[in-house]
Amino acid sequence: MYKVLIATEKPFAAPAVKGIKEVFDAANVESILLEKYTTKDELLQAVAAVDAIIIRSDIIDKEVLDAAKQLKIVVRAGAGYDNVALDAATANQVCVMNTPGQNSNAVAELVFGLLVYAKRNFYNGSAGTELLGKKLGIHAFGNVGRNVARIAKGFGMEVYAYDAYCPASVILEAGVIPVESAEVLYNTCGIISLHIPATAETKNSINFALLNTMPKGAILINTARKEVIDENGILQMMDQRPDFKYLTDIKPAIDSTLIEQYATRYFSSSKKMGAQTAEANINAGIAAAKQIVDFLLHGNEKYKVNN
Ligand code: 3PG
Repeated sequence: MYKVLIATEKPFAAPAVKGIKEVFDAANVESILLEKYTTKDELLQAVAAVDAIIIRSDIIDKEVLDAAKQLKIVVRAGAGYDNVALDAATANQVCVMNTPGQNSNAVAELVFGLLVYAKRNFYNGSAGTELLGKKLGIHAFGNVGRNVARIAKGFGMEVYAYDAYCPASVILEAGVIPVESAEVLYNTCGIISLHIPATAETKNSINFALLNTMPKGAILINTARKEVIDENGILQMMDQRPDFKYLTDIKPAIDSTLIEQYATRYFSSSKKMGAQTAEANINAGIAAAKQIVDFLLHGNEKYKVNN
């Protein structure tokens, strides 16, 4: 009997866990739950005898992969797989998959939760401004970016997008204005929503020089990854541009005391919250479970992201 570990430091909602277990029960696959673990040792022990793992932002590095002697597949229930050591997985003949699109609406909705909070001055009682007619720049037009565009149109915003890998025709078809570079996006739009993945190329790429070209009253929303941000550049913006606001659902890496002084313009949640809805947990969790069953029982490698 195959064994699957559901390893979630930040647990799925209960209905998602129930749905995942049902998928495995129906396929006669044993499922083991490891939630809210606090040490890497717990994870290392839990992976020792399993054939498959479902994770969220949990770190699957070489040490974890080496400890998982029977492992055949890891599925990241979500979009970004920068938390998995792909080369080590390939070397150990472990298939890595994600579940693209399954949690993208949840992340896109949170963008607007953060954005309205910013536009209404963190609900401090002073008069804010509205989204209607404002220019929104979507940086990367993948599943989340497309959902952000859809919702932005409901707010009556003027929507622009830049994506180095997405043809302008696809952006145009979605009723969004494509621009030719990140520089043009940032200096055209007073609001930017970030949706680039964390890669060697994007790491620290959102820096002071780029941000400082944004128009007065600039707002940056980051529901992507902290690694893509140059956090010192954000601090420099906070210092030199009192009109600038930064809101993110990802805990920054920098010392929190440095941020406290900007509490009226800098917001970050303590846990990554974008995909943390019952619906997104159910969609991504059950998709991950089905992909594992399909892979273990039928060899289906759709959504494989490593070589
Ligand atoms: C993703 O890449 O899918 C999101 O960042 C969600 O991450 P989470 O599963 O840790 O909430």
